[in-house]
Amino acid sequence: MRKPQFIAEQGRKPSGLLGQIVARVMAKETADENGFALELLQPRPEDAVLEIGCGHGETLAKCAKIISRGSLCGIDFSPVMHRHAKRRHRRLVAEKRIEFHFGSNDWLPFDDQSFDKVFAVHTIYFWKTPLDHLAEAHRVLKPEGRFVLGFRPAEDAGFRATYPSEIYYIRPEAEVAKLTRDAGFEAGDLKRHVRGKLQFSFVIGTRAQDKSA
Ligand SMILES: C[S@@+](CC[C@H](N)C(=O)[O-])C[C@H]1O[C@@H](n2cnc3c(N)ncnc32)[C@H](O)[C@@H]1O
Repeated sequence: MRKPQFIAEQGRKPSGLLGQIVARVMAKETADENGFALELLQPRPEDAVLEIGCGHGETLAKCAKIISRGSLCGIDFSPVMHRHAKRRHRRLVAEKRIEFHFGSNDWLPFDDQSFDKVFAVHTIYFWKTPLDHLAEAHRVLKPEGRFVLGFRPAEDAGFRATYPSEIYYIRPEAEVAKLTRDAGFEAGDLKRHVRGKLQFSFVIGTRAQDKSA
């Protein structure tokens, strides 16, 4: 059944009281595919990691079990999600092991080549101009850094039938892979993950070695 617009809008940018509930539910609902994304990201203890559209921050908190000497950063443009993530992971924030930034990921408040690993899961649907977002992800990634983009693709008919196209831009795998290459990544593998009737796709990109170095 097609979700009403106000529910779909909560996926795009959780807000108000309902948004606080959505934040809790989403952390559980998306844990499985985010765990898969983390495996593909291959974090090492010394890595600087950025998640764009980090929402509740649960995936970064899991990643903190691996990142002992590096750093973890998340960015999200929903005030409700931003507050929720900071509160939920206050110990890691106080220990300065995670930073949660508030803002839109088509203008990242980070220097060029700041991160070894960048990832985003379930956020590309909300990017009207995806190249702007992907180009930013590429800009902040270090040469030879790894990028993982997880999403439900247009090939998943159930997903297309459930979410209103006015809010969710649901794209085929090949289009997402091309966008990733157009943003400058060397787009390599496409991986798939299935949970029941749900289909998830992951495009893995790398930033080319800096030839001037
Ligand atoms: C469906 S949730 C996914 C959250 C988390 N990545 C996950 O997989 O559970 C989408 C998140 O992306 C955020 N978001 C959407 N568009 C964004 C943008 N342009 N800049 C920053 N965050 C954005 C929303 O606020 C929301 O928290």
